[in-house]
Formats: sequence, C-alpha cells, structure tokens
Amino acid sequence: MTNLSGKVAIVTGSGNGIGRATAMRLAVAGAKVTVSDVLVDDGNRVVEEIKAAGGQAIFVEADVSNEEHVKNLIDTTVATFGGLDILVNNAGVGGGQLRTHEIDHADFMRVLAINIGGTFLCTKYALPHFLKKNDGRIVNIASTYGLIGAPKAAAYCASKGAIINYTRQLTVDYAPEGIRINAICPGYIDTNLGRRKSTLSDEQYEAAVARREKAAAMQPIGRQAQPIEVANVAAFLVSDEASFMTGAIVTVDGGCVTTFNYGEASN
Ligand SMILES: NC(=O)c1ccc[n+]([C@@H]2O[C@H](COP(=O)([O-])OP(=O)(O)OC[C@H]3O[C@@H](n4cnc5c(N)ncnc54)[C@H](O)[C@@H]3O)[C@@H](O)[C@H]2O)c1
Repeated sequence: MTNLSGKVAIVTGSGNGIGRATAMRLAVAGAKVTVSDVLVDDGNRVVEEIKAAGGQAIFVEADVSNEEHVKNLIDTTVATFGGLDILVNNAGVGGGQLRTHEIDHADFMRVLAINIGGTFLCTKYALPHFLKKNDGRIVNIASTYGLIGAPKAAAYCASKGAIINYTRQLTVDYAPEGIRINAICPGYIDTNLGRRKSTLSDEQYEAAVARREKAAAMQPIGRQAQPIEVANVAAFLVSDEASFMTGAIVTVDGGCVTTFNYGEASN
C-alpha cells in the first residue's frame, strides 16, 4: 500500500469525479488533504467522506483560474497543515462539442484559463514551498485528448496538449531541485465531465452519455474506467515508489491511444 503518511496534499477540483477519488485515495495512504473546488457543498461532502474513513482533510473554495483564490488555497493549506508536499492539478472543464469556427473567443479562452492557466497558477504558488526543502511532487491531469486530435473538441484538445508539454518543461526547470512532475492522460472515465445535467437539456445530456459510451466501447478494454482507477496511478506517482519518474506522460486509458479501432475492416 502506497505510504504518504506525514505528507500534505492539495487536489484541485476534488468535489467530484477523478479529483474526489484522488483526494480520498491520498488520504487513505496517510496524507493530510486539502479538498478544493468551486462547488462548496460538493467539496465539503468529500471532506466529510475522508474524515468518516479516518483521514484528515479541510476544504478551501478556489477557482483555479483566479490568482487570489489560488494564493489563498496554498496559504491556507500551509497554515493549517504546516507545509505542502503534493499538488494534483486536476480541476478542469470540457469545451463543448465545437469546431474552431463555431467557438466564441471568450469561451475558448475560458477553457484555457481553467485547464492550463489553473495548472500554471497552482504550480507557481506551490513551487516556493517545494523549493524550500528540495522536495515536491506534482501530478497534472491532462487527457488522451491532449495526445490526439479528437473531433469537435478544439478548446479542450488545445488546453490538454498544453498541459502535457508544460509538464515536460517544468521537469527540465525543477528536476535538479528534487521536484518531480508527471502527467496522467485519462481516457474515458465515468464522471460528469461535459455532461452535468444542470447545464444541459435532456436531449443534450442523453446524446453526451451515448457518445461517451460508444467511444469507450471502441477502445481495447471496451469500457469506461472508474475514477479510482486514475486515482491509484496518481497516488503511485506522488509516492516514493515513483522516485525516478519525472516528466512522464502516463496514459490511463484502457489502451485507447495505442490503436485506431478498425472494427470489422481490419485487413
Ligand atoms: N472524465 C473523463 O473521461 C476525463 C478524461 C480525461 C481527462 N479528464 C480530466 O480529469 C479532470 C477531472 O475531471 P472529471 O472527469 O473528474 O470531471 P468532473 O466534472 O466530475 O470534476 C471536475 C471538478 O472540477 C471542478 N472545477 C471546474 N472548474 C473549476 C475551477 N475553475 N476551479 C476549481 N475547480 C473547478 C468542478 O466543479 C468539478 O468538481 C479534468 O481535468 C478533466 O479534463 C477527465
């Protein structure tokens, strides 16, 4: 079992989905965890779940695209738990089913501001704490959509591709000072990303669910993953067991990007 006892971790966007599973997984491994999200009720619920399982956690409300929120997130964590060892840049949004000529500039920039801008801001304000002790572990949650060009996902693909190369660039700058930075590229994971009922019509919601199930069925493992299947990899990457891993782009995708699905027409 991965041992993170004594470590302090922040997981952004941890009110739901992959972030929630990661916060809970790190807490089970012994870390003190700051759960952070724009959704206050969801974040507080995760803190209660962690405490009920015997772990330690606090909630700090933060929009990762807001610099003042991010500063407060880092400062509150350090003031509460006495330091910072681990950052999981997980908060992210989908960009809708749109090609470039159909997207408003403001909507495109909003996806970038949250997905890559939020990764930058949280990393920027976490790094001084890591540099003080020449130790720190960051996991950036990218996507297989950062590795391939997916149809009608212009803003999302652009933002996730940026996270992947930013992970490599950070590695070059900070590996000599003992800071390890890796990225995970999840494939199709069973969360509400891009299909929150509250933001879609019934028709749009049903279409989004069907699209995702069809895509997941076409990948080699033939199903969506559960969030814990990503969280387990994140826990490994921030642990001492991954001590020689940095700058790695780790796919957790059921084999999705290994192949083009030829269906029946394979030869
Ligand atoms: N679900 C998938 O299939 C999948 C695949 C690849 C990558 N990802 C990535 O995984 C990460 C987590 O997504 P998920 O699938 O768990 O989705 P989710 O929608 O279930 O959870 C995302 C969480 O992030 C929060 N969030 C959104 N904007 C925020 C902001 N500006 N500041 C702080 N928190 C914010 C949301 O409130 C939500 O609680 C995202 O970066 C996403 O792009 C997901």
